[in-house]
Amino acid sequence: MAGIGPREHGDPLPGPRQDKRRLPFPDRFLWGTATAAHQVEGNNVNNDWWAFEQRPGAIWHGDRSGLACDWWRNAEADFDLMANMGHNTHRLSVEWSRIEPQEGTFDPAAVARYREMLTGLHQRGIEPMVTLFHFSSPKWLAAKGGWQNPAVVGHFRRFARHTVEQLGDLVKLWCTINEPNVYAAFGYLLGEHAPGEKNPRHCFQVLSHQLQAHAAAYRVIKALDGGAQVGLVVNIVAFEPLDPASRISARAAKLVDYVFHELTFRPVSDGKLRFPLSAGLASHSPLVDSVDFWGANYYTRKRVSPQRQFLQLTPGAEVSDSGHYGPYGELFPQGIYRALKRVATLGKPIYITENGLPDDDDDQRPRYLLTHLAQVQRAIAEGVDVRGYYHWSFIDNFEWAEGWALRFGLVALDETTQVRTPRRCAQLYTDVIRANAITSEAVATYAPEVMGDMFR
Ligand code: FCB
Repeated sequence: MAGIGPREHGDPLPGPRQDKRRLPFPDRFLWGTATAAHQVEGNNVNNDWWAFEQRPGAIWHGDRSGLACDWWRNAEADFDLMANMGHNTHRLSVEWSRIEPQEGTFDPAAVARYREMLTGLHQRGIEPMVTLFHFSSPKWLAAKGGWQNPAVVGHFRRFARHTVEQLGDLVKLWCTINEPNVYAAFGYLLGEHAPGEKNPRHCFQVLSHQLQAHAAAYRVIKALDGGAQVGLVVNIVAFEPLDPASRISARAAKLVDYVFHELTFRPVSDGKLRFPLSAGLASHSPLVDSVDFWGANYYTRKRVSPQRQFLQLTPGAEVSDSGHYGPYGELFPQGIYRALKRVATLGKPIYITENGLPDDDDDQRPRYLLTHLAQVQRAIAEGVDVRGYYHWSFIDNFEWAEGWALRFGLVALDETTQVRTPRRCAQLYTDVIRANAITSEAVATYAPEVMGDMFR
């Protein structure tokens, strides 16, 4: 339950509004959800996040990941639900600290469990997309300075090689690193994620190392399996000035946008790490043209105002549930369209690797899903090569510094009993997947209030 104001009106971008009664998606479009190992597996005791959770004040309400969604023992129960719901893909991550629990020592039992999970997905007709690094590092790596130590590039290359050698026959879609921009900013600048630092210099070092590690992993995967598709996942925020008439606000929004997005996008095309990233790599760097696709994670818009609180909500906007840091974000579906148009200029296919909102009582999620998907469909209709959509998330899971406060799942989880209860939106998503389209019936049933925005 959330929402402080009416839906925002007067946005300059028109919605998709079509005469037809359905907004179709391309054949063979991938439909699924995304998760991350530490957030769902449970008992990931050997990584830096587990250690971070023990720090007083680090996680809201002192929550712990604990058993999480118990996937290490029984992900298959949720895979069954996904299959019943018609999903044909799932994005998950592997946990580095399980596969390589000690530096240079790999655990065959962990690999075997991942093989079992990936096989289980295939058996259910669900194509896996696997992320190699999604925020959690082995403790041995953290003890050596983690992602701040340039040696991480070689460590990650070795981990990627081993993982792809062991799992590659079961995976055709790889993401190297999830959201280097968020990882660096939240862990090393804002201090909200492990390791909890507030040091701009370290933040940029870490981003630089993540990009180099991405490139190293990309080359390794392609050498092992030329047919694999390998991407990098970037979090895209619709940054806009709080007051568009203010030149200083507009400049600040541009600067934040550049630092958060372009410092990642540009080196992956031309190989050049720009200031304030460590300089040096250029045209022959392994970063040049190092993605087969882009993973775009889009959640929300942030207003930039250098005079007041730097990042804030649009006054009066409808917002999702609140956590430790206030409302998670405003509902701004046009932002995903803009994100897709922007990423399209980089010239590679795109997967929406995350999109969703925290909404415990599911009163906003149906509208969020439909309006965001309509904007995705609009981009596709205009020629953007979007290959799939992964909703965040399948099930409520351990939401990093927000603990269990924010509920992103299509399926509700009682983490103490492990009882699962699909939310209404799970059925809506199934209806969209089965039709491979947004139909006016689905809109009428689940979010009639946006009918006029979507169909004339
Ligand atoms: C993204 C993360 C994901 C989840 C969502 C809500 O930034 O990649 O793990 O926390 O936000």
